[in-house]
Amino acid sequence: MHKGGCRCTRLPRIEPGYTVKMSGDSHKTFYLETFGCQMNVHDSEKVIGTLVHEGYQQVETVEQADLILYNTCSIRDKAEQKVFHRLADYKKLLAQGKKFGLLGCVAQQEGEKIFERAPHVAMVCGSASYRNLPQMLIQIEAGKQRVTGLDDRETDECFETEFTARTNPHRGYITIIEGCDKFCAYCVVPFTRGKERSRTSESVLAEARQMADLGYTEIQLLGQNVNSYKDPDCGSSGKKKTFAELLAAVGEVPGIRRVRFTTSHPRDFGRDIIDAIDAVPTLCDHVHLPVQSGSDRVLNAMQRLYTREQYLERIAWMKSAKREISITSDVIVGFPGETEEDFAETLSLLDEVGYDAVFTFKYSPRPNTPSLALEDAIPDQEKSRRLEALMARQKEIQIARYKRYIGEVVEVMVEGKNEARKQWIGRTSHNKTLNFTAHEESALQAGSYVKVKATQSFPNSLLGELMI
Ligand code: 5AD
Ligand code: SF4
Repeated sequence: MHKGGCRCTRLPRIEPGYTVKMSGDSHKTFYLETFGCQMNVHDSEKVIGTLVHEGYQQVETVEQADLILYNTCSIRDKAEQKVFHRLADYKKLLAQGKKFGLLGCVAQQEGEKIFERAPHVAMVCGSASYRNLPQMLIQIEAGKQRVTGLDDRETDECFETEFTARTNPHRGYITIIEGCDKFCAYCVVPFTRGKERSRTSESVLAEARQMADLGYTEIQLLGQNVNSYKDPDCGSSGKKKTFAELLAAVGEVPGIRRVRFTTSHPRDFGRDIIDAIDAVPTLCDHVHLPVQSGSDRVLNAMQRLYTREQYLERIAWMKSAKREISITSDVIVGFPGETEEDFAETLSLLDEVGYDAVFTFKYSPRPNTPSLALEDAIPDQEKSRRLEALMARQKEIQIARYKRYIGEVVEVMVEGKNEARKQWIGRTSHNKTLNFTAHEESALQAGSYVKVKATQSFPNSLLGELMI
C-alpha cells in the first residue's frame, strides 16, 4: 500500500565511496520526476544511483536534460492521467532531440501501449526491470527507437543496488519486501509490482549498518506490506528472522536512533510487533495500519481478509503498549455497493480508534482489478460528499488529539528551518511536525535531535519552543 502525494526528486547527495564511471561521453544528462508512494521515491533514489554510476549526470530541469524520465504511479486514475498530461506537455521537447522514458507502475501496467498513446516515448520500464536500465540506455544511445523492460507478475527480480542516491543525508529508506500477493479487490499494485518477494534479513541489516556508518540516524523500512515479510534464507547468521525480529535488529544497529516501517497490513499484523516496539526504544511509536472501511460487508467485498473486530483487536494491542502509539490509516469511500449505513460504520470506526491522521480516497476503478467487474454506481458527487464528511470528522478528532501534546516536552529530529517564519521544523517519533522557535540556535542543524516543549496545536502540526 502507498501513501498519496507526489514528490519531485532533488539532486542527491553523493555518498562517500560513491564512484562515478566516467565514460567518454561524460555530459549525458537526465532529469527524473517521481510520482506516487514512498516505494517509488526510493526506487528513484536507486535509479539515480544506477544512472550516475553509468556516467549520467542528474539535472534539475527538463531543458538541461538529454533524457527525461518519469517514475509513475497508477494507484488511482488521477495519478495515471497526470503522467500522460505531463508527457503531452513535453512533447515539443522531442524536436530538441531529447529522449523520454517511462518507469514504474503506469509503465508496467500499460506496457507497449504507451508507445501508441505517447509516440515520443523511447523507453518503457517496470520496477522489476530496473536492474536492466544500463543495458536499455546503451540501446537508446545507439539509436534504438523503442526499448522495453517489462516483467510478468511471477518475476523474482528485486532491485537491490550497489548505488543509492539518497536525497536526505540523515533519514533513508530500505526496501525489505517488494510486490503484493493480497489482491484487494480495488488495487492495481499486485499487477504493477508483481508477486511478494522479501530480501534476506542479512542484506537488510548490512544496508542498515552501512547507512549508520555513513551517518544516517533514521531508517524507514519499506514494503507494500512490510509485516508480510518472510526471510528467504538463513544466510550465515543461521536463523531466519520474522518481521518483528528484523525490526528489532535494525533498531539495535549502533548509531540508529529511529526506525519507522510502512505499510502494514492488518491481517499479518502480529502482537510481536508491539512487543518489539515495547522492547526497543529506537523503534518509533507510530503505526500506519490502513483499514479502508469500517463495514464488514465492504471489507469482505474489498477482499481485505479481516473483519472490523479483528482490526480493532490490533488497535487494542497498540493501545496496551508501554509507550503511546500514534496510529494512522487509509480509507476509501464509495467502493461499489457502499451504502449510507456502511459509510456510517466507517465514521464510527474513526471515533473508536482515534487516529492521528487518515489518508482518504474516492474509489477509482483500476485496470485488471477484481472490482472492475462491479458497477462503479456511486456518483462522483456522492463520493465527494462522503469524502468531505470523513475529512471533517477526522479533523475534529485530530484537533482534540493534537491538544494532548500541549505542555509536553518531546524529542524531535530537526528537518530544517522556515526562514520566513523564523521557525525550525522538527519531526517527533510519533511522526508529527513540530515547528519551534529557539533563542539559542548555534547547536541547531538539520539531522540533530533536540527537546522541544509543545505550546500550541493545530489539526496537522504542533508549535513549540526549544528546551535546550
Ligand atoms: N481507489 C481508491 N483508492 C485506492 N487505494 C488503492 N487503490 C485504490 C483505488 N482503486 C488507496 C488505498 C491504499 C492507498 C495507498 O490508496 O487506501 O491504502
Ligand atoms: Fe494493494 Fe491490498 Fe496489496 Fe495494499 S495489500 S498493495 S491495498 S492489494
